[in-house]
Amino acid sequence: MCGIVGYVGSRPALPILVEGLRRLEYRGYDSAGVALVDETGVSVTKTAGRFHVLEQLLDANAAHTHGIGHTRWATHGAPTNINAHPHTDCSGRIAVIHNGIIENDRALRTYLEQQGVSFRSETDTEVLAQLIGKFYEGDLEQAVRRALRDVSGTYGIAVVCSDEPDVIVAARKGSPLIIGVGKGEHILASDAAAILAHTTQVVYVDDGEMAHITPDTLRLTTLDAIPVPQKVEEVEWSLEQIELAGYEHFMLKEIFEQPDALENCLRGRIDLRAGTVHLGGLEERSRELIRTKRIILTACGTAWHAALVGEYLFEELVRVPTETEYASEFRYRNPIIDDGTVVIAVSQSGETTDTQAALREAKQRGALVLGVVNVVGSTIARETDIGVYLHVGPEIGVASTKAFTGQVAVLALIACYLGRRKHMSPAAATQFITALSKIPEQMRGLLNVAAEAKEVAEKYVERNNWLYLGRGYDYPVALEGALKLKEISYIHAEGLPAAEMKHGPIALITEGMPVVCIATAGSQYEKILSNVSEVRSRGGSIVAIATEGDDKIGLLADHVLYVPDTLESLQPLLTVIPLQLIAYHAAVLRGCNVDKPRNLAKSVTVE
Ligand code: G6P
Repeated sequence: MCGIVGYVGSRPALPILVEGLRRLEYRGYDSAGVALVDETGVSVTKTAGRFHVLEQLLDANAAHTHGIGHTRWATHGAPTNINAHPHTDCSGRIAVIHNGIIENDRALRTYLEQQGVSFRSETDTEVLAQLIGKFYEGDLEQAVRRALRDVSGTYGIAVVCSDEPDVIVAARKGSPLIIGVGKGEHILASDAAAILAHTTQVVYVDDGEMAHITPDTLRLTTLDAIPVPQKVEEVEWSLEQIELAGYEHFMLKEIFEQPDALENCLRGRIDLRAGTVHLGGLEERSRELIRTKRIILTACGTAWHAALVGEYLFEELVRVPTETEYASEFRYRNPIIDDGTVVIAVSQSGETTDTQAALREAKQRGALVLGVVNVVGSTIARETDIGVYLHVGPEIGVASTKAFTGQVAVLALIACYLGRRKHMSPAAATQFITALSKIPEQMRGLLNVAAEAKEVAEKYVERNNWLYLGRGYDYPVALEGALKLKEISYIHAEGLPAAEMKHGPIALITEGMPVVCIATAGSQYEKILSNVSEVRSRGGSIVAIATEGDDKIGLLADHVLYVPDTLESLQPLLTVIPLQLIAYHAAVLRGCNVDKPRNLAKSVTVE
């Protein structure tokens, strides 16, 4: 949620820090700051508020070639100027920026106060800065290492000191850090987006590691000072992918990118003639996977909705009992992991703290752990035994769109991969993957529904309560449609399995209340029509998402948005698109900040 950027090289650091911080804006924040360093001292500029507030305070002519910058999402202490990062020690020589939470900050603060330290802010990060200052005896790396021994909690930190003006010391436990490797320069960041303008060559800092960075050298060690070999890797994302490219918002761009994103996701993975799916990332443990007796999918937010679609897919295609668990619940409820249980962690960012913790718990209990992740090299991708990347490109809008369809597609591929190795006939597998391979083209046509989605949004944007109903595969999509609307337009919306409506929520339906019913052709079509009638007879306004060619639904619904026909199990890949568009237009009409909705962050790296 917070963002880190650091630069050591020969160019002026400030423009690089500013550009990097701007690229991290999408992660959401409430204050920002930079520290520029040279042998004369550390100069800190920081403020509460949006990034442009900080920019006005910065000295554009600063010639420093070394500095760190931070965007903060308040955890300890309100978002004020004083609490913004960087924080310095008493001497003012050392400055620290920090993502994560220091759990024993109270005890450390009391201890340091007893030693005569007086604190300026309420933050756990200042505690860290003062602690490093206390241990500093001319070697910053040593001081950081020593301080971290006393610290419990999570951190990604960058530390500078005016006595060693060409050094950044960084350390990571639970909060991502990447180092971009340039010619005579290094750029440290918490997210590749801040590095891409300068280089695609990166070194990932792993959990429990420290980095000593100068313009020409980079040294990784464990927290216990054991050297770690470093591997320079290529980031597969490009700068163009993280720019708006003429769209008004990233969310809209990402909705419209879905056909291409899905093509990238499927590329090289399906063999229509042989009726098989190739997933190189699973091969190593495929025998264990095939023998699995139980699958648990774990995730948060939108990824949890995709996982729920996965549950239905696995039970249908693999015929193995499958459950979907909120990662935050799974990790704390003493989960039962039997021999042969496979746990699948689904995450766009690969950094969500609850999902990470759930997979660690599962691993500790002996499960084979599989990752379905978008960000290459992210923590979850690195910690899982095996995995499949989404390859849908960077997702910048806080409300997840193309990652959802990518996650569903990858789960469909995994289901078919396992199903085919167990009992699916070649004909059934060919039918499934043929339908899957047609989805990107079907999506392209479907995106024309944008104008109708906008009309629906215009008609109901003033209504403060919406319901979303679906059955079977359409049920997770109802949840996702409601989440999209809430997240970005702040309209209250609830998604339900349609039949559950009569057990309570039906009491909410009043004249004109918008009820979005996903009523696609398939095994539950007649059933959902009855639910639609129940809503209609109570005065609700029905927005139906139906299959092209359906001539009945128009008699019951106030609006019908048609989606192309496909297999029932693949419908979520299509039905979600009109719902994303309705939410998008509702948010725009309400004047909301679509890409950075209030109180939300792209990647939740705290509990
Ligand atoms: C946050 C985001 C959601 C996302 C969820 C899980 O809450 O706002 O859009 O679905 O985290 O994120 P992940 O990166 O694990 O998919």
